[in-house]
Amino acid sequence: MSKIETSILVEAKEPDTETLLVLNDIPLDEQVEGLIRNHKELNITRHRSEKLALSSGPDPTGLKILPASSRQRFEESGIDVSRGYPEVPDRSQIPVFVDQAFAIRNYDLPYTERGKNADKDKKSLFGAATEVINLTKNVGTEIVGLQLENLTDQQKDELALLIAERVVVFFRDQKLSPKTQRKLGEYWGHVEVHPQTPQVPDLPGVTVIWNDYKIKQGMNLNYSNNNLGNWDATKNPAIGNQVWHADLVHERQPAGYTHLHLDAIPGVGGDTIWASGYAAYDKLSDEFKQLLDGKEAVYISAHGYLDRDDPFSGPKKVERVHPIVRTHPATGWKYLFVNRAMTRRIVGFSPVESDLILNYLFDVYEKNADIQVRFKWSNTKTGYGTSAIWDNRIAQHRAVWDHEGKDARHGTRVTSLAEKPYFDPDSKSQRESLGKYLHKWE
Ligand SMILES: [Fe+2]
Repeated sequence: MSKIETSILVEAKEPDTETLLVLNDIPLDEQVEGLIRNHKELNITRHRSEKLALSSGPDPTGLKILPASSRQRFEESGIDVSRGYPEVPDRSQIPVFVDQAFAIRNYDLPYTERGKNADKDKKSLFGAATEVINLTKNVGTEIVGLQLENLTDQQKDELALLIAERVVVFFRDQKLSPKTQRKLGEYWGHVEVHPQTPQVPDLPGVTVIWNDYKIKQGMNLNYSNNNLGNWDATKNPAIGNQVWHADLVHERQPAGYTHLHLDAIPGVGGDTIWASGYAAYDKLSDEFKQLLDGKEAVYISAHGYLDRDDPFSGPKKVERVHPIVRTHPATGWKYLFVNRAMTRRIVGFSPVESDLILNYLFDVYEKNADIQVRFKWSNTKTGYGTSAIWDNRIAQHRAVWDHEGKDARHGTRVTSLAEKPYFDPDSKSQRESLGKYLHKWE
């Protein structure tokens, strides 16, 4: 029995509880933190649908279900998974209290927008590709005949601009080591290291995207509940990654270029859908655009933490305020920065007004099929993976769990954090800037 357990039992027998704040000279928040960090039964992540981070370090149970193609990629990349996979961050490093989570990266990070000065015609990138295929009119481009690991800096700049214009760009048949994936991310921004999400062993910043492992760890994801959060994310938990969302919007400098590489892909199913924030903004009337321009909203973290001053009140999210309409530094275009899972309220509006407007904005993003692209990850060569690189600022995305976990789906994600969000009142929308037709409501 630990020291803390003993002291609490003794105190319970002798209810000389003059004050709870100081028990055996230990402040209450420190006792709570000690309990949570030291007791493996307590869920340190405070996530409603997951019981991750019960153990720390490389996980031997995950290794048992690691798909052969993923293992082959790691072996070819010189990554040692013999002690277990994935690597779960150490409990001592995982935030317990909201203030601890808020303090992570709560300072200026240097950021260079690589696409800003790139060749607008992208001659270096397109010239080296065998094919450039726009998958829809408004969003999504596939590049054929290029290996991401061989890109020059000029091509990386042009690719950044292409992603900033097309929202998401795809590369099939890639030989890509997790280390190279991280290096690419470092070129495009500050690589985010997640405080509690499992990662590739010894490679902080290379986050494991693997619902099959989460299910093995106790996540209750099934045919009936996988989609419920898309109707009301406040009432139904977002289980896995099926609910429309954007990654890491609670960061002081939220995610920009985000690169998911799948090395285990279902034969059929497990697609991902993206929607464009430029196009969502352009779906609004001029009057409504004016109403939103310059407004701010509160954005929350996916994980919850405890309130240091009221630790028994339940999990609370990290909250951060950002403009609800942002300007993209590379394209100069305005876009709608909301998502159902993590935009909590518009600052200054009553809760009723805010809910009404936000639910409409979520619908605009989610229900307009002409501003979305659905991507099938499959590739043509065995032993190769597929990459999607999207600009998380200007996109929402969701995975489709129609394979119901019966086919393995595993990948690694590297997220480059971008600039501190801003709104430039002189910036234009995408369609306005490109001289495209905009409907006028009279
Ligand atoms: Fe995501």
